[in-house]
This record gives sequence, structure tokens and C-alpha cells, in this order.
Amino acid sequence: MKTIIEPFRIKTVEPIKFTTVSEREEILQRAHYNLFMVPAEDVLIDLLTDSGTSAMSADQWSGIMRGDESYAGARSFYRFEEKVRELTGFKHIIPTHQGRAAERILFSILGGPGKRVPNNAHFDTTRANIEFSGAEAVDLPTAEGVDPDCLADFKGNIDTDALERFIRESGPEHVPLCMLTVTNNSQGGQPVSMENIRRTKEICQRYNIPLFLDACRFAENAYFIKRREPGYAQRSVKSIVQEMFSLVDGATMSAKKDGIVNIGGFIAMNDDQLAWKARNLLIITEGFPTYGGLAGRDLEAIAVGLEEVLDEHYLQYRIRVMEYLGERLDAAGVPILQPPGGHAIYLNAKKFLPHVPVEHYPGHALSVELYRWAGIRSAEIGSVMFGKYDTQSKLIPAKMELVRLAIPRRVYTQSHIDYVIEAIAEIYHNREKIGGYRIVEEPPMLRHFTAKFEPIR
Ligand code: F0G
Repeated sequence: MKTIIEPFRIKTVEPIKFTTVSEREEILQRAHYNLFMVPAEDVLIDLLTDSGTSAMSADQWSGIMRGDESYAGARSFYRFEEKVRELTGFKHIIPTHQGRAAERILFSILGGPGKRVPNNAHFDTTRANIEFSGAEAVDLPTAEGVDPDCLADFKGNIDTDALERFIRESGPEHVPLCMLTVTNNSQGGQPVSMENIRRTKEICQRYNIPLFLDACRFAENAYFIKRREPGYAQRSVKSIVQEMFSLVDGATMSAKKDGIVNIGGFIAMNDDQLAWKARNLLIITEGFPTYGGLAGRDLEAIAVGLEEVLDEHYLQYRIRVMEYLGERLDAAGVPILQPPGGHAIYLNAKKFLPHVPVEHYPGHALSVELYRWAGIRSAEIGSVMFGKYDTQSKLIPAKMELVRLAIPRRVYTQSHIDYVIEAIAEIYHNREKIGGYRIVEEPPMLRHFTAKFEPIR
């Protein structure tokens, strides 16, 4: 059979609320045109993020009941630890309440003024945690990785030549670790090849620098390796995952993505000294090392989710959703970042709205219009999220102006996706009418969450 179906049936449903265009115009005004400030109840299809928004399985909900809530040494912790160790092979596995808590701990230890941390592309919270420690976060994508139209297989790769130059120029003593984000969320949810992980490790080893994976979407990355990298087609996704982790020294993980849970994460590594320091920091703000800011039931749900995410029917369906959405938008002439990513489709707002200059935030403008016209919530990944100012307060724009349509795991069906396709095609047809935005108020860090905007008329 050619048809790829959702590999589940639905036991519990949640109604979604319909609003009109004029109601949404009022909602937008009240939210200062920032979609993070729109009540979720007023969203018809919520593609803001794939993080923590997944539907848990019956087995995971059973795990919630099985959760052992003992303060120390809970059974649920051991189950969680065993599953994470089976996949990653790491000696030390430390739960945290989500990915950024793992990042904060890691960079509190290894960051600090004068340090520089390279990555294929840092996600916003990773960058913020590095910068908050006083260190510098540096992206080293490949040229094809930042070309939205290039159809390469592994656009998430780090530029290994640039990495080696970067280490030499910075001095290895100033580079406390290197990271690789799989899949590369800031640049289109594109995968990193095994070859690239291996090559990065060789370079890091030469300079005695540990390599960490930002592993949020490790299973989607492994599935792309299976489909696209020579030599992996016959391998199980689980064995590919194990190989990915075997090449690195540690990982930070937000289980809210490929853990298929609503909250949770971990930090894992082999280094005893680093783990000792991490556990000490964990106790100050997250909790005792066998629960790390989570309830026992959350640890159970993660243990189950980490197994379910490796089901190859699930991964085939998951990746197919993005391909289907991407193919249909492409056929309607809508400019998207190619090829489709693992967890999202990214609209190319610079091409979608060529009449809106980057200083007027075309990604933001498109994202607001998607909500206004169709009740769909997306996320700008462009100069609102990553833009900076120079000393004259002039915007230094992001490399790309994207709008991410992130698909929660196991939540929406094909007709929801068809609605999204129809809505975007209509907006594309009327794109000349869409104008830009200016920021009227913003915080010093992670401004996209709370900045206030106003339309430029
Ligand atoms: N690293 C990557 C690559 C991420 O995508 C995220 C979160 C984090 C780290 C932080 O994890 O949210 O559990 O603290 N990304 C979400 C997103 C928020 O929408 O892409 P967290």
C-alpha cells in the first residue's frame, strides 16, 4: 500500500475553538501583535512549537499512574536511567525539568567570559544560556545550510573546516566544548549526517575538546540518516541512534520533543568530574539527582516515549507529514525552505513578502497574517528571534527570515494539514496587502517571547 496513515487511533479528543477574522483582529491588538501573548484557546491550529505539545500514548498515561514519587532513588528514575543509557551509552544521566535547565547547568560549569562555544547553529535558549554565562555562542553552518533553496540531504551539518579554523583562531583553551544540534532547529529542522558527527569528533579530539549533542530531535535525525546516508538503509533506527551517541562525549536533551512528553529533559555525559559539578548545581535549583525537577511520573512517561519514538512506522508517518505539507505548498508556488525538515516546514518570508524590508520583520508579518486570516499560530525564526543591534541601534538581521510551522507529535490529522495548506495558499495569493511591523517595547534577551509590536501602515 502506498498510503501512509497515522499509526495510531484516537481515544481522547480535545475540541478546538473557532473564531472569526474580526475576533482575531481584536485578539491580536490585545496581544500587541505578539503570538506568544495570544491565549491558546483562541488558536484554531497551534503550530507554534512541537515542544511539549505532543499527545501521549495510552502506555505513557499508564506510566503516569505507575510513577514512583519517592524523593530519593525512585523506581521511575531507574527505569528512566536505564532507557536513556540503552540509547546513549552515557555513564552519568541527570534528569532536568527541560532542555534549557540542562543547558544552564552545562554552561554554568563550562561557560564564562573569554569562552567561545561553536555549534552548527545554536537554538535561542542555548545561545541565551551561553551568553548569560559571559561566553560567546558561535554558529558554523555550511554554505548550503543557509541557502533556503538548496536541496542537499544534510543541511544541518556543521562546517568542519570552519570549525577547525575557529578552534585554531580562538585557541583550544578558550573552547570548552563543541555542540551539534540534531536536527538543526534554527536552520530548518535539517539533519546532521553520521559522517559529519564523526568528522566533528575527530577535530574536537585533536584539540582535546568535548563534543556534546543538543539531542532534542535525535530520532528524527536518525531516521533521515537511515533514509539518506549511504550504508544505513538496512540498519534499525535504534542502532543508528546508538551510533550517533557513541561518537560524542555528552548530550543535553529536551524530552519535550523526541521524548514525546509534555515536560522533561536531561543532561548526560561520561566525564566524572563534570557530572559531579552538574549534580551539585542540579541540587541547588532543580532537585535531588534522581528526580531533577520532575515528578516520578514524568520520568516514567519519558522512558516510554523514548522507546515509542523509535518505532519506524511512527517515524515514517512523522517525516511524511512534513514532506506532504512541503510538497503541497511548493506546488502552490509558496516559497519554503527546502527540503522539508523533520519537525516543521519553514516558510521563506523574505521571498513570500519581498516588499517588506527586513527592518520591518517580514517573518513576523507573515506569522501574524496566518493567525489573523486562518487562526493558525506559527513562530517567526528570523530577525525578531535572532536579530541584534549595532552600536548605532541599527538592526543586524538574522541570516534567514523564516516562519516555522512546527507540527506537534501525534496531535493533528491530515485534514488539519490540508486546512493549513489551503490557508497559506490563500494568503500567498493576497500577499501584496501584507505590511511590516515595528517593535515598540522589548526585553534585553529572548525578546520574541515578550516584545510588543505595532503594524506599520
Ligand atoms: N535545543 C533545541 C534545539 C530546541 O529546539 C529547544 C527548544 C531547546 C534546546 C530547549 O529545550 O524548551 O525544553 O527548554 N525548542 C522549542 C522550540 C522551545 O519551539 O523549538 P526546552
